[in-house]
Amino acid sequence: MAENELLPEVIQGQLKTLFVGQKILHFSQVDSTMDVARKEALWGAPAGTVIVAEQQTAGKGRLQRNWLSPAGGLALSVIFRPNLDNLPYMIMIASLAVAEAIRKTTGLKPQIKWPNDILIREKKISGILIENDIRKNDLKYCIVGIGVNVNIRVANFPEIATLATSLSDELKKQVSRLQILVALLSELDRLYQQLSRRSVIWEAWQKQLITIGQKVQVNMGGRTYTGTAESVTHDGSLLLRQKEGGVVRVIAGDVNLQ
Ligand code: BTN
Repeated sequence: MAENELLPEVIQGQLKTLFVGQKILHFSQVDSTMDVARKEALWGAPAGTVIVAEQQTAGKGRLQRNWLSPAGGLALSVIFRPNLDNLPYMIMIASLAVAEAIRKTTGLKPQIKWPNDILIREKKISGILIENDIRKNDLKYCIVGIGVNVNIRVANFPEIATLATSLSDELKKQVSRLQILVALLSELDRLYQQLSRRSVIWEAWQKQLITIGQKVQVNMGGRTYTGTAESVTHDGSLLLRQKEGGVVRVIAGDVNLQ
């Protein structure tokens, strides 16, 4: 076993959270932590359960993409059980938590690109995937999947080399994955408890979005829209002011900064 595997007892030895990480399942290799988390959630795993893997062989990204997940990266899914009303805020909480954990641990200055890509110098350092199970207006679970490029030499992976970066590439040294993970779980725990003050979360997220005020191109439902990203609504949608003056509300999609 590699010396620096993210073992539950080591992580928990450093955690002071209320509920996130009270239960941690660790895998050397899985297809996707999302699949493990879904099964755990359906079997009744408590909110705050964390699934962490050293490597994923079929990591999933947003919009049916793959997520490259080699050794040296951080790949985890966390099970939450929020009220349905709070669901839109999970994207905000997750991206704020990742950005803050990176900032606190490394001093780097991450940016958030709507809805939840974390960038450094405009290159992707982390991605977030959220999967919900809603039945008859009842939210069974919300799984927040987070991948962070920590100690990965991005140049060795041609498929992401031009678009992504890693903490070790940025800092020219190895970074403690344990420290990043502990900071991340602590931030998720802290921000989740602030759901009683949702507008504070929304404001913090909107403030950190580099997308706001920029000319963007959005692909949504097979159509492309261009315009200026004006603001975000409390449900997390992006409001796009088109050249002709109309406003398009973008619920999900891919945004290219122009
Ligand atoms: C994206 O930017 O497209 C989202 C990427 C999400 C990747 C993480 S890694 C841990 C979890 N397991 C997965 O299969 N995907 C998420």
